[in-house]
Parts: sequence; structure tokens; C-alpha cells
Amino acid sequence: MASVDMASVAHRLFRTKPTDQIIAEGGHGEGGELRRTMTLWQLTLFSVGATLGTGIFVILGQAVPKAGPAVVIAFVLAAVTALFSALSYAELAGTIPVAGSSYSYAYATLGELVAWVCGWCLMLEYAVSVAAVAVGWGEYLNHFFRDLFGWELPASVTHSPGVQGGVLNLTAILIVLLATWLLLRGASESATANAIFVMIKVVVLVFFCLVAFAAFSTGNLTPFVPMGVAGITAAASQVFFSYIGFDAASTAGEEAKNPRRDLPLAIVFSLLIVTVVYVAVALAAVGAMPWRQFDPESTEASLALIADRATGATWPGLIISFGAVVAIASVVLTVLYGQTRILFAMARDGLIPKIFEKVDPRRQVPVANTLIVAAFVSVLAGFIPLGQLAEATSIGTLFAFAIVNVGVLVLRRTRPDLPRSFRTPFFPITPILGVIFCVIVMLGLAGVTWLAFAIWMLVGLAAYFLYGYRHSRLNRSLG
Ligand code: ALA
Repeated sequence: MASVDMASVAHRLFRTKPTDQIIAEGGHGEGGELRRTMTLWQLTLFSVGATLGTGIFVILGQAVPKAGPAVVIAFVLAAVTALFSALSYAELAGTIPVAGSSYSYAYATLGELVAWVCGWCLMLEYAVSVAAVAVGWGEYLNHFFRDLFGWELPASVTHSPGVQGGVLNLTAILIVLLATWLLLRGASESATANAIFVMIKVVVLVFFCLVAFAAFSTGNLTPFVPMGVAGITAAASQVFFSYIGFDAASTAGEEAKNPRRDLPLAIVFSLLIVTVVYVAVALAAVGAMPWRQFDPESTEASLALIADRATGATWPGLIISFGAVVAIASVVLTVLYGQTRILFAMARDGLIPKIFEKVDPRRQVPVANTLIVAAFVSVLAGFIPLGQLAEATSIGTLFAFAIVNVGVLVLRRTRPDLPRSFRTPFFPITPILGVIFCVIVMLGLAGVTWLAFAIWMLVGLAAYFLYGYRHSRLNRSLG
């Protein structure tokens, strides 16, 4: 008897949701439909908005001491790692263009339990990372205010409790609320605002390149690989964080005008744009300043520092801090959006409460969902020092990426007949390399990060068995 029960439980846990059903449900939530308004251009900038953020403004301070001028190669290596997974995302986003991104792809290919695990990992990539990013916003804002007015907001409102005199990180809450306000106005309005933010941050980074290239000295590039190949791979693991986010467009599958054509293109284009910008910025930076002067201890925006040193003036740093303020605002906006849409898909499947799939009929956005996510992220960002969480974000993201790569392999086998608007080239080598690279980067992360990840997963599994398992719509239909 017990073995029969075990068999039925296992059957339920690994039952996949039919791909055609997932596609047919797309666009609808309880109470209304999402609005299809987003163009290829907006989708591409959505992914760029989510990707090009805090990382590039600060990460060189930590990555250059590891690799020296060869940090440029580290950026290319991290981009190649991201590219394998991006191609897999592109294939699945073009085949199953729904809001749940990798969560939905996992449901179609690897079954409910893996889908849940994936959705739970995505909360690290989205909700937790957006809170961590928001926490740092006040510091950039202060950097900007300090350079502009010689004045800054008190530490009590720009830091989390217990950190450098912080009481409540009101600036973090403020940026989350501003992003929420935009999201409630509608997906298209948010995409337009994001497009403006992205333009600004790209222009600021181009400005940085111009300033830094003016001070470029080839002498700074020799020796090019002072820390050896190991230094390059260590730096590559670290800068991988700055590539996270290219998958954000895949959460807009139900609001894109032409998702099958545009989602794969947006994912690949955004990664290419970001890679070109990062490699140019890294090259300009190590050409302008001797690599030994990059300071891993400095928490200040390192690009601003380099620009100031390169010119001997402070105004370039001011422009760059402004760019960082805008960059973080756009990451918060797009990543918050992505989280609400993933939860929307999970609620539609019954794995989390229905309130997350309620669409406001007038605005055609999931209002309650957005408000709950905003409240959760605000509390997290306002009260908890999240600086350490960047690595936890990476591990969760890499896990989800690995699942997507496996998903491509499985779906080609189980549903070779499905129309695919984009096919990963060099199949099956690319997705297999995608999995291998994800695992390698994961193994490079610290033991404490793995521990945090294991605890996160245990909480997630408990939540699934207490709620999702019993309320799953797919399993209810089993009778
Ligand atoms: N890629 C994002 C950033 O660098 C997470 O901020």
C-alpha cells in the first residue's frame, strides 16, 4: 500500500504540464488579460535594463586585482558562459512564450517539483537581488549629492539597521516604491521609462570610455596576464554577476506583441549589447589606471574614481555617479517586473495563492501581485543588510540557468514537433556546455553561499509540500 502511495506521489511530483496547455493559458489570469504592447526594441532594452546595473560600476575594483589587465578576457569568458544559457533561453522563450520564464520551461520539461525549485531559485534572482540592489542605491545617491552639493543624506536613512549608523534604509524603500508606481501604470509605460533609463546609462558608460581612453597608456596593459590563467577564471566567476538579467525579457512573454519572434532576439541582442559595453569599459579602465591601483577594499563606485583620476577633475565622477543612480533605478524596475510575472505564472498553476494571478481589468496589470511583491521587497531592503546576498543571487540564478539548458535537451527529445522560432545552434553541444559552465561557476562560489542556498531550498521545499503540492491545478485535474 505504502509503495503504491509513494509511486503516486512520485508521479505527481514529476508530472509535466503539457506544453500546449501552457501556451494556451498564456495571457490570461484570474479576472482579466495582460496587454500585449511590448515591441522588440522595448524587450531588448528591458533585458539590458535588468542586466547593466550595479555590477559594472563597482566590480572592477574587485576583479582587476584578481586578473590584472586580463580582466578584459574575464569579461569575455563570463559572456561566453552567459551566451550558452542565453541561447537556451532564446529557444525556450520562442517555443513557450509565457510569463513564467524558466519556471514554466521546467514545468513543461522536468515536472512540477523541478519547476517549483526553479521558481524558488528565481526568487533569489529577482526579489532578493532587487532588494540587495536597492539597498545600495542610497550610497550612490549620496555619492552624487556629495559631488554636486557637498551635502548628503544622513546615514540613518541610507543604510540598513546596524550598518554604519543606519536606522531604516529609506532610500532603498523609496526606489522600490517609485518603481512600483511605474509598474502599476502599465507594462508599456514601464518599458518606455526603462528605455529612457537605459539610454542614459549607456551614454554615461560611453562617456566613461571616452574619458578613460583619453588617458589610455599601453604601458598599463603590460604585463597583460600578471596573475595567470587562474586569476582570469577567478575574475570571470566574479564578473558573471554583471551579466545576470539578460533573461528578464523572457518574463514578458505574455505582454510582448510578437513573442515568438521577438523574445529570442531580445535575449541574444541584449547579451551582445551588454558584452560590447562591458569589454569596452573594462579595456578603457585598465588602460587608464595601472592595475595595481584598483582597490578591492573601496566600496565607492570604482568607475567614478577612475574617471576622476584620469582627468584630475571631479565632474566626470559626478556624471558617472548619476549614471549609477539611474542604472540601479532601471534594474529595480525591470527585475521587480520580472518577479511579479513569474509569480503570476506560478499562481495560475495553483502553486501559490490565487491573488497573484488577479489582473486589474482596467489597467491590465496584476495590481495586488505587484503591491505584495513591492511590500515584501521594501521590508527586505529597508531593514536587512543584504550586501552579502549578491553571491546567493548568483547561485540561484545559475541553478535556474542550468535547468533551462537541460530543458532544451529534454524538449527537443519529447516534443521535436513543436514549432520553434529559434533553434540553439550546434545542438546538443551548446546546452550541454551551458550546464557544464553553470556548474563550474557555481563550484567557484564560497561554501557559506552554498549553505545559504541549501537553507533557502529547504524552506522552499517545505513551502511546496505545505501548499503547492496540495493546490496544484495540474494535480487536482488528476482526480
Ligand atoms: N547584472 C546586474 C547588475 O550588475 C545584476 O547589477
